[in-house]
Amino acid sequence: MEQLRFAPAAAGDLGEIRRVLAALGLPSDDVGAPHQSFTTARAGEALVGFVGLELYGTNALLRSLAVVPSRHGEGLGGELARRVLAEASAKGVREVYLLTTTAEGFFERAGFARVAREHVPGPVRESPEFKTLCPASAVCMMKRLAADGAAASEGAAPAPRPPRVRVREFAPDDVDRALALWRSCEGIVLRDADDRREPITRYLDRNPGLSFVCEVGAELAGAVLCGTDGRRGFLHHLAVAPAHRHRGLGRALALAAAEALAREGVDKCHLMVLPSNAAARAFWRRLGWEERTDVLLMSRLASRSHAA
Ligand SMILES: CC(C)(COP(=O)(O)OP(=O)(O)OC[C@H]1O[C@@H](n2cnc3c(N)ncnc32)[C@H](O)[C@@H]1OP(=O)(O)O)[C@@H](O)C(=O)NCCC(=O)NCCS
Repeated sequence: MEQLRFAPAAAGDLGEIRRVLAALGLPSDDVGAPHQSFTTARAGEALVGFVGLELYGTNALLRSLAVVPSRHGEGLGGELARRVLAEASAKGVREVYLLTTTAEGFFERAGFARVAREHVPGPVRESPEFKTLCPASAVCMMKRLAADGAAASEGAAPAPRPPRVRVREFAPDDVDRALALWRSCEGIVLRDADDRREPITRYLDRNPGLSFVCEVGAELAGAVLCGTDGRRGFLHHLAVAPAHRHRGLGRALALAAAEALAREGVDKCHLMVLPSNAAARAFWRRLGWEERTDVLLMSRLASRSHAA
């Protein structure tokens, strides 16, 4: 599995960012100004995407979100947007603005809405991107952030705070709740012999820091087991509770495991999917996994008393 690395851009990255922007026909002249930060996504050494943030007090300009054409359709743009919004929120930003000529629908899905240019705060409107670099026909959009990075309510009454979503390491105490989640999920095949608390706890013990759970508030909403034999990685039992699907939790869990394997220096990873599990196959393909037709899985049971 190819690992993606997200990192703040260093000075040495800026020339490459300018070149990619120019190749994509996006403004690049002012890249490197002091109040900007960029986040890069690299696959190996190759720069495959990036996004910039310009700070103006509690307002910010999201700019130069770009993914190289060969990596379109993998959700990388969404991940970069998610990261830059989290960065903005962590820096105390309350309103994020942007200009776009081609990606209004993408940003709508990320929670932005059109806003008239005259409603954009002065310092953002005075930025080079607004003043000179983007065509006047570009659509201006805004997203309001709550202190924790979620979209804030527009009305006078504050909306109830959404439960906090957190991906964290899978702890031994999570095993019982994870087993209950897996039992409730179609597509997860559990074996009485090894999908019990002791074998799972032993697995976690042998593979520290590689397995993850996702909590929504106090609820365990997702889990994935990940291990390595030192050479290859293996993912098992990725599941998200039905009520929390299609919100990026499955992707976040898979990414957390992939990044943890990368830290161990493990490049390639395998997993098993039931051929009939069309949803999971679509999910994994969306994340860049390839289905194998050149190998056949073989298994052996030391004891014939258990079902395969
Ligand atoms: C597979 C599963 C983990 C996905 O979790 P999820 O949180 O809903 O997935 P995400 O929201 O992170 O989706 C990530 C991407 O996959 C796509 N995707 C997710 N489910 C999909 C589906 N059923 N069909 C097509 N695409 C799907 C999403 O559209 C998204 O793409 P995008 O970000 O580019 O828009 C979840 O459906 C599940 O728990 N299924 C039951 C257990 C299972 O079968 N696990 C797999 C064992 S191998």
